[in-house]
Amino acid sequence: MKITPLYTFYFLCVCFLVYSVSIYISKPGCINRPEDMNAAEGRLVWQKYNCQACHQLYGLGGYLGPDLTNLVSQKGKDESYIKALIRSGTKQMPSFDLSKEEEIKLIDFLKSTNESGIADPRQFNVHASGMIEQK
Ligand code: HEC
Repeated sequence: MKITPLYTFYFLCVCFLVYSVSIYISKPGCINRPEDMNAAEGRLVWQKYNCQACHQLYGLGGYLGPDLTNLVSQKGKDESYIKALIRSGTKQMPSFDLSKEEEIKLIDFLKSTNESGIADPRQFNVHASGMIEQK
Protein backbone atom coordinates (compact mmCIF):
# COMPACT_ATOMS: atom_id res chain seq x y z
CA MET A 1 0.00 0.00 0.00
CA LYS A 2 1.34 3.41 -0.98
CA ILE A 3 1.36 6.02 1.78
CA THR A 4 -0.53 8.92 0.27
CA PRO A 5 -1.16 12.26 1.97
CA LEU A 6 -4.79 11.18 2.43
CA TYR A 7 -3.77 8.11 4.46
CA THR A 8 -1.45 10.28 6.53
CA PHE A 9 -4.36 12.61 7.18
CA TYR A 10 -6.62 9.72 8.26
CA PHE A 11 -3.86 8.35 10.49
CA LEU A 12 -3.42 11.72 12.22
CA CYS A 13 -7.20 12.02 12.69
CA VAL A 14 -7.30 8.63 14.42
CA CYS A 15 -4.32 9.62 16.63
CA PHE A 16 -6.10 12.86 17.54
CA LEU A 17 -9.30 11.03 18.49
CA VAL A 18 -7.51 8.38 20.56
CA TYR A 19 -5.49 11.04 22.39
CA SER A 20 -8.59 13.22 23.03
CA VAL A 21 -10.57 10.28 24.43
CA SER A 22 -7.63 9.29 26.67
CA ILE A 23 -7.51 12.84 28.07
CA TYR A 24 -11.25 12.97 28.70
CA ILE A 25 -11.30 9.70 30.62
CA SER A 26 -8.11 10.29 32.63
CA LYS A 27 -8.06 11.95 36.08
CA PRO A 28 -6.88 15.58 36.20
CA GLY A 29 -3.15 16.27 35.85
CA CYS A 30 -0.28 13.81 36.20
CA ILE A 31 -1.22 12.50 39.60
CA ASN A 32 1.07 10.06 41.35
CA ARG A 33 1.05 11.12 44.99
CA PRO A 34 -2.12 11.22 47.15
CA GLU A 35 -1.45 14.86 48.09
CA ASP A 36 -1.44 15.74 44.37
CA MET A 37 -4.91 14.21 44.07
CA ASN A 38 -6.00 16.30 47.06
CA ALA A 39 -4.52 19.41 45.45
CA ALA A 40 -6.42 18.75 42.23
CA GLU A 41 -9.64 18.32 44.17
CA GLY A 42 -8.75 21.34 46.32
CA ARG A 43 -8.82 23.44 43.17
CA LEU A 44 -12.47 22.40 42.78
CA VAL A 45 -13.14 23.51 46.38
CA TRP A 46 -11.46 26.84 45.55
CA GLN A 47 -13.78 27.18 42.55
CA LYS A 48 -16.90 25.97 44.40
CA TYR A 49 -16.61 28.71 47.06
CA ASN A 50 -15.47 31.30 44.53
CA CYS A 51 -12.35 32.34 46.47
CA GLN A 52 -11.02 33.70 43.16
CA ALA A 53 -13.62 36.50 43.28
CA CYS A 54 -11.58 38.26 45.97
CA HIS A 55 -8.18 36.52 45.95
CA GLN A 56 -5.49 36.16 43.29
CA LEU A 57 -3.39 33.14 42.42
CA TYR A 58 -0.18 33.83 40.50
CA GLY A 59 -1.26 37.48 40.43
CA LEU A 60 -4.62 36.84 38.74
CA GLY A 61 -8.05 37.12 40.34
CA GLY A 62 -10.05 39.55 42.46
CA TYR A 63 -8.29 42.32 44.35
CA LEU A 64 -10.35 42.68 47.52
CA GLY A 65 -8.22 40.16 49.43
CA PRO A 66 -4.51 39.34 49.22
CA ASP A 67 -2.80 37.03 46.72
CA LEU A 68 -2.75 33.52 48.23
CA THR A 69 -0.20 31.84 45.92
CA ASN A 70 2.55 31.75 48.55
CA LEU A 71 0.36 32.02 51.62
CA VAL A 72 1.57 28.76 53.21
CA SER A 73 5.21 29.89 53.16
CA GLN A 74 4.47 33.15 54.96
CA LYS A 75 5.44 33.35 58.60
CA GLY A 76 2.68 32.36 61.02
CA LYS A 77 0.29 31.32 58.24
CA ASP A 78 0.13 27.62 59.03
CA GLU A 79 -2.75 25.22 58.53
CA SER A 80 -4.52 26.09 61.77
CA TYR A 81 -4.36 29.82 60.92
CA ILE A 82 -5.85 29.21 57.47
CA LYS A 83 -8.60 26.93 58.80
CA ALA A 84 -9.52 29.35 61.58
CA LEU A 85 -9.62 32.32 59.21
CA ILE A 86 -11.84 30.55 56.70
CA ARG A 87 -14.18 29.39 59.47
CA SER A 88 -14.43 32.75 61.22
CA GLY A 89 -14.08 35.17 58.29
CA THR A 90 -13.08 38.79 58.89
CA LYS A 91 -14.78 42.15 58.55
CA GLN A 92 -14.30 42.01 54.78
CA MET A 93 -14.23 38.26 54.17
CA PRO A 94 -17.28 36.07 54.65
CA SER A 95 -16.92 32.93 56.77
CA PHE A 96 -17.14 29.57 55.02
CA ASP A 97 -18.41 26.33 56.50
CA LEU A 98 -16.08 23.84 54.79
CA SER A 99 -16.10 20.16 55.67
CA LYS A 100 -12.91 18.72 57.20
CA GLU A 101 -12.16 16.99 53.89
CA GLU A 102 -12.61 20.21 51.91
CA GLU A 103 -10.30 22.06 54.31
CA ILE A 104 -7.53 19.48 53.84
CA LYS A 105 -7.91 19.50 50.06
CA LEU A 106 -7.97 23.30 49.88
CA ILE A 107 -4.81 23.54 51.98
CA ASP A 108 -3.08 20.93 49.79
CA PHE A 109 -4.10 23.03 46.79
CA LEU A 110 -2.58 26.16 48.39
CA LYS A 111 0.60 24.15 49.11
CA SER A 112 0.77 23.15 45.45
CA THR A 113 0.39 26.76 44.25
CA ASN A 114 3.19 27.70 46.64
CA GLU A 115 5.45 25.03 45.14
CA SER A 116 4.61 25.89 41.56
CA GLY A 117 4.89 29.66 41.40
CA ILE A 118 5.60 33.07 42.87
CA ALA A 119 2.76 35.55 43.30
CA ASP A 120 4.76 38.57 42.22
CA PRO A 121 8.39 38.01 41.20
CA ARG A 122 9.15 41.74 41.38
CA GLN A 123 10.96 43.06 44.44
CA PHE A 124 10.82 46.56 45.84
CA ASN A 125 12.96 48.77 48.05
CA VAL A 126 10.99 51.04 50.34
CA HIS A 127 13.01 54.16 51.23
CA ALA A 128 12.67 56.07 54.48
CA SER A 129 11.02 58.90 52.52
CA GLY A 130 8.22 56.52 51.50
CA MET A 131 9.46 56.26 47.89
CA ILE A 132 9.09 52.78 46.45
CA GLU A 133 11.60 51.60 43.88
CA GLN A 134 11.69 48.34 41.96
CA LYS A 135 14.91 46.39 42.61
C1 HEC B 1 -15.83 38.60 49.50
C2 HEC B 1 -14.43 38.47 49.24
C3 HEC B 1 -13.69 37.24 49.70
C4 HEC B 1 -13.95 35.93 49.42
C5 HEC B 1 -15.05 35.35 48.56
C6 HEC B 1 -12.90 35.17 50.05
N1 HEC B 1 -12.05 36.00 50.72
FE1 HEC B 1 -10.41 35.43 51.79
N2 HEC B 1 -10.07 37.38 52.29
C7 HEC B 1 -10.80 38.45 51.83
C8 HEC B 1 -10.24 39.67 52.40
C9 HEC B 1 -10.73 41.08 52.12
C10 HEC B 1 -9.13 39.27 53.19
C11 HEC B 1 -8.24 40.18 54.05
C12 HEC B 1 -8.86 40.07 55.39
C13 HEC B 1 -8.54 41.12 56.34
O1 HEC B 1 -7.38 41.54 56.40
O2 HEC B 1 -9.48 41.51 57.06
C14 HEC B 1 -9.05 37.82 53.10
C15 HEC B 1 -8.09 37.05 53.76
C16 HEC B 1 -7.94 35.70 53.57
C17 HEC B 1 -6.87 34.90 54.15
C18 HEC B 1 -5.76 35.42 55.05
C19 HEC B 1 -4.63 35.91 54.20
C20 HEC B 1 -3.43 36.36 54.98
O3 HEC B 1 -2.44 36.72 54.33
O4 HEC B 1 -3.47 36.37 56.20
C21 HEC B 1 -7.06 33.62 53.73
C22 HEC B 1 -6.22 32.40 54.08
C23 HEC B 1 -8.24 33.62 52.90
N3 HEC B 1 -8.75 34.89 52.82
C24 HEC B 1 -8.74 32.49 52.28
C25 HEC B 1 -9.89 32.47 51.53
C26 HEC B 1 -10.44 31.27 50.95
C27 HEC B 1 -9.81 29.89 51.03
C28 HEC B 1 -11.59 31.64 50.31
C29 HEC B 1 -12.56 30.72 49.60
C30 HEC B 1 -13.10 29.65 50.40
C31 HEC B 1 -11.75 33.06 50.48
N4 HEC B 1 -10.71 33.53 51.24
C32 HEC B 1 -12.79 33.79 49.98
C33 HEC B 1 -11.90 38.42 51.01
C34 HEC B 1 -12.50 37.28 50.53
